[in-house]
Amino acid sequence: MEKEKVLITGVAGFIGSYVASRFLQDGYAVVGVDDLSNGRVENIPAGLDFIQGDLAQISTISKIPCDCRKVLHLAGQSSGEISFDDPVADLEKNVVSTLNLIRYGIENKVECMVYASSMSVYGAVENEAISESHACKPLSCYGVGKHAAEGYLRVYQGKLPFVALRMFNVYGPGQDMRNLRQGMVSIYLAQALKSGRIEVKGSTDRFRDFIYIDDVVEAWFRAATYPSAIGQTLNVGTGVKTTVETLLGQVCQLVPESTYFVQGATPGDQSGIFADTTALRSCLGLPSFTPLEVGLKKFVDWARL
Ligand SMILES: NC(=O)c1ccc[n+]([C@@H]2O[C@H](COP(=O)([O-])OP(=O)(O)OC[C@H]3O[C@@H](n4cnc5c(N)ncnc54)[C@H](O)[C@@H]3O)[C@@H](O)[C@H]2O)c1
Repeated sequence: MEKEKVLITGVAGFIGSYVASRFLQDGYAVVGVDDLSNGRVENIPAGLDFIQGDLAQISTISKIPCDCRKVLHLAGQSSGEISFDDPVADLEKNVVSTLNLIRYGIENKVECMVYASSMSVYGAVENEAISESHACKPLSCYGVGKHAAEGYLRVYQGKLPFVALRMFNVYGPGQDMRNLRQGMVSIYLAQALKSGRIEVKGSTDRFRDFIYIDDVVEAWFRAATYPSAIGQTLNVGTGVKTTVETLLGQVCQLVPESTYFVQGATPGDQSGIFADTTALRSCLGLPSFTPLEVGLKKFVDWARL
């Protein structure tokens, strides 16, 4: 029997490479796209059909085979901080690329598109678990773009079924330890391992919802394969509120003799946010999540190699 073909974008990046591996392991044929603007060739899993190109360019879309049954769109500029450097570039990378893929999906009667959205769409929120029905008032150009991309998916949902996954802070082995502007956990860990001095941009009272990469991959796999997920917008977090201070305490315990100091702030940063996971659990049936201390230990062991 011929394998079902799926298109996965961002396969040279952190999350996309894991998601692609999972689909390959499950017997799918995977077409992967990445422009290598942030990802690395060595992350691309063996066995997929790789197309190098920028999805904001129609010339890249035209290279994608017409028989992909699902689109999992993870390619994108993934930093709120970087989105302020060049908001037009961010718009191209995160919104124009999504519109191009929506057109591909409609033209080729794709079954479903799963989109990598973000908690950044919510902006400043109350100190309580945030559900998907909460108002969206993004604070960064990145968040505006993610929200706009979701909006386009809703406009076209009659022609292209979709699932939007609003991921919270994803962390784990494979995160880019050289990039100190993307990924709170990897930024702190990279500094702890390199110099023992962690620069914290913003208050340690801020709080987040840290979710381990394996749990995120499982959410993506189920979102793309469970018919009940179609049309849903789901938070992908653990529901656990963790302060930056707690995170730093755990990092400093795992990397002895490391310390931290607070200096400056990151533009468009959310002061605190954690997920209401009711919809995620009921729709995708995820039973439990990796505790932070367990995931962090695995991350540190990997990073020390
Ligand atoms: N990491 C997180 O905590 C998190 C949280 C919420 C949402 N997201 C979203 O999930 C997705 C994956 O994030 P990640 O952490 O793996 O980031 P990443 O930077 O590691 O991976 C993104 C990949 O997309 C590629 N890319 C960027 N623009 C492209 C374009 N126009 N055409 C083709 N390829 C392009 C990059 O080269 C990179 O390999 C992103 O869309 C990000 O915004 C990530």
